[in-house]
Amino acid sequence: MIDIRNTTFYYNASQDDEEDAGHKPALSHVSLNISPGEFVAFLGRNGSGKSSLSRLLNGIELPTEGTVSVEGHVTSDKAALPTVRRAVQIVFQNPENQQVGITVGEDIAFGLSNIGWPQRDIANRVAWAINLVGLDADEDRPVTNLSGGEKQKLALAAVLALAPRYLILDEATSMLDPVARRQFVATLHEVRKQYSFTLIYITHHLEEVTDADRWILFQSGRVVTSGTPADLMEDVRLLQDCGLELPYYQTLAGLLRESGIAVPAAINEHELRELLCKSS
Ligand SMILES: Nc1ncnc2c1ncn2[C@@H]1O[C@H](COP(=O)(O)OP(=O)(O)O)[C@@H](O)[C@H]1O
Ligand SMILES: [Mg+2]
Repeated sequence: MIDIRNTTFYYNASQDDEEDAGHKPALSHVSLNISPGEFVAFLGRNGSGKSSLSRLLNGIELPTEGTVSVEGHVTSDKAALPTVRRAVQIVFQNPENQQVGITVGEDIAFGLSNIGWPQRDIANRVAWAINLVGLDADEDRPVTNLSGGEKQKLALAAVLALAPRYLILDEATSMLDPVARRQFVATLHEVRKQYSFTLIYITHHLEEVTDADRWILFQSGRVVTSGTPADLMEDVRLLQDCGLELPYYQTLAGLLRESGIAVPAAINEHELRELLCKSS
């Protein structure tokens, strides 16, 4: 479990800065638990603190106040940091910032060597990871030859090879075109059927996270609320306040409801289409 307790975080914190009323924390009194196997979405405007919290979760940054612990390991405990960093992996927006190898195989092998994966098992693990994400490229393919979508799948393969228990995707699809984005999300769900991990998904596209277990809404460094997608989708005002736009079919469902047509709250795109076809 991830346990975030009353965590406040300032970049470049110093005592003087904190006392300066003009200096705002990136995160303010955040308390949150994330359970093993959960699929949660961090949602909110740019600058609301989602990425900062991600960095705290894998110990790249440490809380200024409060604690973050991963399976009982507190991130401020130096001795525990390697364990935390291994357990919690992040895929960022721009895959190129994360790619270190010249070839696909090297890129995945690099991380494995780094964590001391047995040398004789690396080749197998690289092949396993490529296969897991359905990357249609052999190991010798230069990374520079991959499309944007393929690069992002490679980034996913490289972190999954490390067997993380928590995977954070921080706007990992934002550089992809809609087709590549849908493919990436489909791949991710396929992977989750084969190998279970906690997924923390950060996005501006609500339609990518309608099947999450929980949405966590951020505003100005605070967690405003958390709840199931079905519940939070009903609160259009709150979503708007957090800079979020409902998937078009949810907006349509809302309009139909307003005009007196009975549309269930937790309807998905497919069900809405069926309902419309039946009623026409
Ligand atoms: N490296 C940094 N140094 C200083 N301030 C930062 C840095 N990264 C983010 N911030 C600030 O921290 C706050 C939260 O940002 P961030 O966590 O990146 O939000 P989000 O990921 O939700 O867009 C914002 O006010 C942002 O300007
Ligand atoms: Mg961010």
